[in-house]
Amino acid sequence: MHGFRKNYPVASEITPESVWQSRRQWLRAAVSAPALLAAGAASAKAAPDTEPFGPKLAATPSQRWSTDETVNRWSDITTYNNFYEFGTGKGDPAENAGRMQLTPWAVQVDGAVRKPLTLDIDALRHLAPMEERIYRLRCVEAWSMVIPWIGYSLSHLLKKAEPTEEARYVVFTTVLQPDVMPGVRQGILNWPYTEGLRMDEAMHPLTLLTFGVYGRELPAQNGAPMRVIIPWKYGFKSAKSLVRIHLQSTPPLTAWMQAAPQEYGFYANVNPAVPHPRWSQETERRIGSGFFASRIPTQPFNGYASEVASLYKGMDLRRNF
Ligand code: MTE
Repeated sequence: MHGFRKNYPVASEITPESVWQSRRQWLRAAVSAPALLAAGAASAKAAPDTEPFGPKLAATPSQRWSTDETVNRWSDITTYNNFYEFGTGKGDPAENAGRMQLTPWAVQVDGAVRKPLTLDIDALRHLAPMEERIYRLRCVEAWSMVIPWIGYSLSHLLKKAEPTEEARYVVFTTVLQPDVMPGVRQGILNWPYTEGLRMDEAMHPLTLLTFGVYGRELPAQNGAPMRVIIPWKYGFKSAKSLVRIHLQSTPPLTAWMQAAPQEYGFYANVNPAVPHPRWSQETERRIGSGFFASRIPTQPFNGYASEVASLYKGMDLRRNF
């Protein structure tokens, strides 16, 4: 997010617009087809030339928590990534993250809890019913995508650990495997990547513990085997490949706050009224909408204001950016 961006064109940007339009229509039809929902199949389908791959992950489509906007293609979602451990170019994670060691994988839930837990990924996958939720993801870099994630509300896991009264903040820690992470060897951030939420944000049903995308287990570049997604916040809050979830009484100093506190605040709620010090946050580019598509207005809380604005009642969101 810091500037060292390689110029990596996404596949969709080099696809002629006409091909694109028909794909968009195809996707729209697939996503809104009620028959698909009724059949319990994943409601999001990729265009045929970008068929998702990898182990399947069953989930029940959630209408309650899904947007009906056109979903991005599998290839957009899996080749245009931020995962700085694997490099700062948008194509670096797809190229390098496959070397991440994913088995065995355990996640620790500890700190201000009555029942500290260490669960392996299989136990985590079975802890609560999987839902498919189509969320908007808005990156602080002013682009966005619409992504069919699979997971369940983080609150299910947190409740299992029985948070104490001291638990006012949650800290997420990403796996650290320097041997296969060129970005870690370069510095860039204070590794491991850490992020955090206030407890009420973490317990909000929209906060998704995420195991899959497009009916498949998460590809490495999207944060396999498990990450968090907070759809009303800038994408950097949604930490990938988690190994630890720590509850504590004080606000954490996250990796991005350490790197550039004037640019990346703790809250990071999507807010078109508060520009990033180096660029506006008023509009966004929807990845895959074609090179000449016009930018779209960014919505407060990324369009989730009716669900989450009340969490910030009385707060000055310019100061708490
Ligand atoms: N998690 C880790 N561990 N490392 C990262 O560099 N980048 C963040 C977030 N989670 C990042 C991370 C940013 S800036 C964004 S926009 C999203 O992941 C991108 O998620 P995606 O690549 O699955 O779309």
